Amino acid sequence: MNKPEMFSPNSQEAKDIAYHMHPYTNPAMLAEQGPMIINKGKGVFVYDSEGKDYIEGLAGLWCASFGFSETELVKAATKQMQELPFYHSFTAKTHNPAINLAEKLIKAAPDGLDKVFFCNSGSEANDTAIKMVWYYHAAIGKPEKRKVISRKRGYHGVTLAASSLTALPYVQQGFSLPLDFAKHTSSPHYFQDAHDGESVDDFVKRCMQDLEDMIAEEGADTIGAFIAEPLMGAGGVILPPKGYFEALQPILKKHDILFIADEVICGFGRTGNMWGSQTYGLKPDILTCAKALSSAYLPISAVLVSNKVADGMAVQAEKLGQFGHGYTYTAHPVPAAVALRTLELMEERDIINYVRKIAPLFQERIKGLGKYDSVGDARGIGLIGAIEFVKEPNSRIKLDPKHKLAARVMKMVQDAGVIIRALPLDGIAFCPPLIISEDEINMMFDRVESVLPEVDKLVKTLD
Ligand SMILES: Cc1ncc(COP(=O)(O)O)c(C=O)c1O
Repeated sequence: MNKPEMFSPNSQEAKDIAYHMHPYTNPAMLAEQGPMIINKGKGVFVYDSEGKDYIEGLAGLWCASFGFSETELVKAATKQMQELPFYHSFTAKTHNPAINLAEKLIKAAPDGLDKVFFCNSGSEANDTAIKMVWYYHAAIGKPEKRKVISRKRGYHGVTLAASSLTALPYVQQGFSLPLDFAKHTSSPHYFQDAHDGESVDDFVKRCMQDLEDMIAEEGADTIGAFIAEPLMGAGGVILPPKGYFEALQPILKKHDILFIADEVICGFGRTGNMWGSQTYGLKPDILTCAKALSSAYLPISAVLVSNKVADGMAVQAEKLGQFGHGYTYTAHPVPAAVALRTLELMEERDIINYVRKIAPLFQERIKGLGKYDSVGDARGIGLIGAIEFVKEPNSRIKLDPKHKLAARVMKMVQDAGVIIRALPLDGIAFCPPLIISEDEINMMFDRVESVLPEVDKLVKTLD
């Protein structure tokens, strides 16, 4: 990438630095190093302004499941733009893309989810889910059931309710968050959080005890819902240990706490099933999804609810005159048409079985990274995975965060032609488009492995 002093005042880089505020970016670093401008995409590759190719090892932000040049989705958007570029769904209005997408999504949903409400992002879907929990409990005469439990290291987005549930310090610091309805129980990260010598079973028991203690302390009659990603994405690609959700769900049932599955990353084939809930045996009352719903080509997300919740809400809405919630762009016809075509393409191309077919190679290559001294853990499922760096081989001793190792590795890997994501646990995540070929999987990991010996050397020099 160019250095800023090379940017002429009229360059795109200089204008970006001058006018554009970036999410999740250090403005001083942006000003010093300049932005990375991506101008083009083809398949699993994206190209920067100098024409250099990169394999998008994170499908953008865990989302572009069909890669970066799916013409069927472009056609669906164009056709809908020509027919009806906008209409809303307030006050009982609707249109065919919304109706057809709702039907398709509910038919593809895990059992027990019967109705869908559309939003525009994962964060909005989660905020909507929380408002539904409050509305529902108020409707059934339990208005004090307002607290929501999430897990440390969970990521649920950045709107006010969602960022309160996201239990990562960088999302809350400086904002005086979380809001006090949000409570954070322990994270199921066995590799990092198990005590020395603790078995998986004992670790799971301890997580459950933490949850029970929190429920007892707060009072079950004040807790409306529990929210969890089937596997945690941005917090570290943390897979639930065996027995975790099996033990957890009966606790929620016992205390009449609704279960929200945040499938914003896991949904639509990522873990080798349509839903992470199927992979891990979850039976949610509410499910949120986004991202791969439209292969990220246009913003759309959804909240799926059980009839129990929908019916409770309907009674309340009848009493109050309406369900007083919705966005101008709820069920926007163009993203809805693209999402519908995405779901059709998943069927036509048998994407789930394709993921199952190539996942073993992907997993073998990820786990193969465990041979490097600096890699303490290598894990994954389906087409998602991560490696976590450690200070000493075969240990879980972390490097001092001041070294910002994961960010440095991300840059090294990027220079080698793969875009991946640095994780808060000093790791890097892989989550490529679902259409990646076996050759491209090998190319991606070959490029990554071209820098890992240097990472090993670097780690030995850090205190
Ligand atoms: C599990 C999960 N939930 C919610 C969100 C928030 O989605 P968005 O960025 O579309 O608001 C994300 C984003 O990465 C996510 O990974």
